[in-house]
Amino acid sequence: MKPKACVILPTYNEAENIQLVIQNIFKQATKIASHDLHVLVVDDNSPDNTQGIVRELMDQYCNLHLLTGQKKGLGEAYKRGIKYAQDLLSPDLIFEMDADGQHDPKLIPLFILLANHGFSLIIGSRFAPGGATPDFSFWRKAISLLGNWMIRFLGGIPRIQDCTSGFRCIKSESLAKCNLKFLSTRGYSFQSSLLCELLRTGAKVIEVPITFPDRIHGESKLSLKDQVEFIINIAKIRFRQSEEFVKFCVVGSSGVIVNLSLYIVLTRLFSIDFKIAAPIAIEFSILTNFFFNHIWTFKNRNSKASSFIKLFRFHFVAGLAGIINYLIFLALMCLPYSYDIIANLIGIGVGMFINYFLNSLWTWREIKLQQNLPKQNQISSNKNHKAP
Ligand code: GDD
Ligand code: MN
Repeated sequence: MKPKACVILPTYNEAENIQLVIQNIFKQATKIASHDLHVLVVDDNSPDNTQGIVRELMDQYCNLHLLTGQKKGLGEAYKRGIKYAQDLLSPDLIFEMDADGQHDPKLIPLFILLANHGFSLIIGSRFAPGGATPDFSFWRKAISLLGNWMIRFLGGIPRIQDCTSGFRCIKSESLAKCNLKFLSTRGYSFQSSLLCELLRTGAKVIEVPITFPDRIHGESKLSLKDQVEFIINIAKIRFRQSEEFVKFCVVGSSGVIVNLSLYIVLTRLFSIDFKIAAPIAIEFSILTNFFFNHIWTFKNRNSKASSFIKLFRFHFVAGLAGIINYLIFLALMCLPYSYDIIANLIGIGVGMFINYFLNSLWTWREIKLQQNLPKQNQISSNKNHKAP
């Protein structure tokens, strides 16, 4: 049996659009050799009979599924849909897609092909070179670009051009690594939270430029409440992105305790000379710090270097940070009214930041994504939608 690809279509009052969207998605099934295509409509009891239309279509398409519930927002609908798909369909790939015709189903085979080539997150991108939003009003475009800019830079994902896109293909195994409960967002900001969470947990991403035309029927459900939640959510994402730094500090503090304890044991219990005991205690704390950073702080990093090389780099950085710490201490002590404990604390603080950034950027550096794209002639797709 082939693995499944499940397109999740959240709907609220899409009676005028849903039939055509579902038909156009299933038309793509014949172009996909590697996966069985399924569609899951997550409807929040739309008053316009969206559900009735989907139920009728279910007689025609055996791979069409419907999940209903109370209206709690786009993010809540996606979370419910993802859980339902994972529990009952166990798809290999999950698609996010709007049910109003603004996302072109002809791109589904291309997204699956890219997933088969090793990408775990494929984003239909309106803002990557080649992408377009021809019908956006000036304000919608400004809000969208500003929101994207905030997520990119405050969320620490500067390389992604469309962070709020609602058209994506995600490998289930990558979704499984995400803490969906943490994504407490109920509305549209779910999209940016999920993206940051996927990248944080090591998803291999590619953006495919798309054209995002206006919807033909009905209207956007994006509300002011969604926009307020989006801003608040950026703060949450920022905190989440600092998680590694917080863990690094915790490990560093544990190193101080290890260092002091071992020093006391060696000098007091074993009567070892302090000149020998001190370097042994330092080295041991460097080793325990390395171990905990390796298995905890940076455990999600996709870095290529061997553990041995990382250990070497970690020592080098510790030495460098130690020297800088000492030089800052000496420099501050030359100032009038200097106080040694304050000077030392400042030195330790600067040393810790240097330690963190060098280890983050060098020791556990993530491997660059190799965008080995399939050749254009291997994919059947609308000519407006070229892989970059
Ligand atoms: N079940 C459910 N519940 N579906 C919802 C809800 C909800 O509360 N709110 C919206 N939807 C559905 C819509 O019916 C549609 O199928 C899809 O989600 C997207 O909603 P639109 O209202 O059409 O969104 P948009 O076109 O304004 O926004 C697009 O761009 C955003 C970023 O700029 C979408 O692609 C969003 O996903 C994207 O975040
Ligand atoms: Mn829409």
